[in-house]
Amino acid sequence: ALPDRHLLVEAGEAAALLPARPAAGHKGTFGHLLVVAGSTGKSGAAAMTAEGALRAGAGLVTVGCPRSIHPTLEVKLTEAMTAPLDEVDGGLSLQAQEQVRELWAGKQVLAIGPGLGLADETRALVRHLVRECPLPVVLDADGLNSLEGKPAILNQRTAGTAVLTPHPGEMARLTGLSIAEVEADRLGVARRFATAYGAVLVLKGARTVIALPDGRLRINASGNPGLATGGMGDVLTGLIAGLIAQGSPAEEAAVLGVFLHGLAADRLRKTLGEAGMTASDLLRELPAARRELT
Ligand code: APR
Ligand code: MG
Repeated sequence: ALPDRHLLVEAGEAAALLPARPAAGHKGTFGHLLVVAGSTGKSGAAAMTAEGALRAGAGLVTVGCPRSIHPTLEVKLTEAMTAPLDEVDGGLSLQAQEQVRELWAGKQVLAIGPGLGLADETRALVRHLVRECPLPVVLDADGLNSLEGKPAILNQRTAGTAVLTPHPGEMARLTGLSIAEVEADRLGVARRFATAYGAVLVLKGARTVIALPDGRLRINASGNPGLATGGMGDVLTGLIAGLIAQGSPAEEAAVLGVFLHGLAADRLRKTLGEAGMTASDLLRELPAARRELT
């Protein structure tokens, strides 16, 4: 359980949050997650999310993506399974809801948003899935942008905690505030959102803030500007969802995921420095970061 005394998340606490790895565990033990992500030009976002979950230790990953990029993801992803979904106007169509419902059966968590694009039907689909999905949901990028002006949809969920991972621009869109207003009061803005909508709100950036539905706040102590490059956020989305798949409560997965993500970057800084590390480098470093905590 998360202590409420210390604001700063550090290694000792993160270590205590690691999901167990039973010696007799099999891939079913470590959970199966569904990623809904990607569009033409952004297939990498879907791939990074899936690999983030695998590098977190998830047992199985299935990626649902627009039909037109499915062959690309089949080549990019070796370990994850993939499923083509109906699309229209270059994004997922509202009709894909039935396919996604079939795919989420038997899964432990849904991660949705990276690289999805903002076609009207895709936004409507995301809002539908956020309302209806009974699993914990990790919502990022265009998944968050699809809730622009309609965050109250989160209150219509009936089961499963929602974890939202906006960067300041996405947080501004979600709340109707300016980016300057978000940045001027990161703790207050995150806390108000988390309590109003019963969600875990991860406000990214240097010193990521994690706000819990009961109003508790945490600030992450790991990470460095090496993370300021495309794909790093997508890895975090998969990492948090991958921890939930392994049985971590959503609140703990958010705190641990953000810490591990930064720790992997801090390990890479020792050899690569703070410029030129890539999201693929970070993925490869995640298992060693987790091991460092054990
Ligand atoms: N110090 C520590 N951490 C940092 C720093 C820093 N200076 N800069 C960035 N990070 C971390 C953030 O906290 C976050 O975890 O790197 C990650 C960046 O995530 P995103 O901002 O989502 O960036 P990205 O992965 O490139 O997103 C890809 O999706 O969200 C959309 O608009 C976004 O087009 C972009 C795409
Ligand atoms: Mg992002």
